Amino acid sequence: MTELDKDINKLKILISENEIKNKLKELAEKIEKEYPIDEELYVICVLKGSVIFCSDLVKHLKHLVKMEFIRISSYGNETKSSHNLQAIDLTLPNLENKNVLIVEDIIDTGLTARFLTDLFKIKHHPKKLMFVSLLNKKCARQTAIEPDLYGFEIDDKFVVGFGLDYKGYFRNLPYIAYFPE
Ligand code: IMP
Repeated sequence: MTELDKDINKLKILISENEIKNKLKELAEKIEKEYPIDEELYVICVLKGSVIFCSDLVKHLKHLVKMEFIRISSYGNETKSSHNLQAIDLTLPNLENKNVLIVEDIIDTGLTARFLTDLFKIKHHPKKLMFVSLLNKKCARQTAIEPDLYGFEIDDKFVVGFGLDYKGYFRNLPYIAYFPE
């Protein structure tokens, strides 16, 4: 950790563990109203950032859930989006006519969400497709896209925790935090 230029002791909590816990229940209730409870639901976890959000969210869902994992990278090691989307693994089963929910950690520029939404519609033809994101940086948007559901709207600051990282670190923090300027 010595080369790390961001010190964990300087982190300020933006969204507490408890706030996130309550929000997960709220989001799950909304999801349950959107998809028939007696139909299976494919939950697509977008790695790596949404691993914790997605894992905690599915625990609240009463559907027969199938979890699938895809991996995309857009930030590299920086705190600004590289706009260089790298689809690392998009392997998925046949989702035609299935209920699908894409789960993301954060929508920032919106380029990842745009790419995924278009890809799923064009390639997978789901019965119903929704996009849920824990965080929404509306002010950073570079393409007109909104998640169907989201947990918290935040300012245009770089955040870590609850799956979100800086140079691979801090994903394990149970809250959302930022480094004050
Ligand atoms: P977008 O394509 O610019 O919307 O970026 C989406 C991806 O960038 C997210 O899935 C995150 O992995 C990453 N990202 C965006 N903002 C942040 C942040 O504040 N902290 C950590 N990762 C972020």
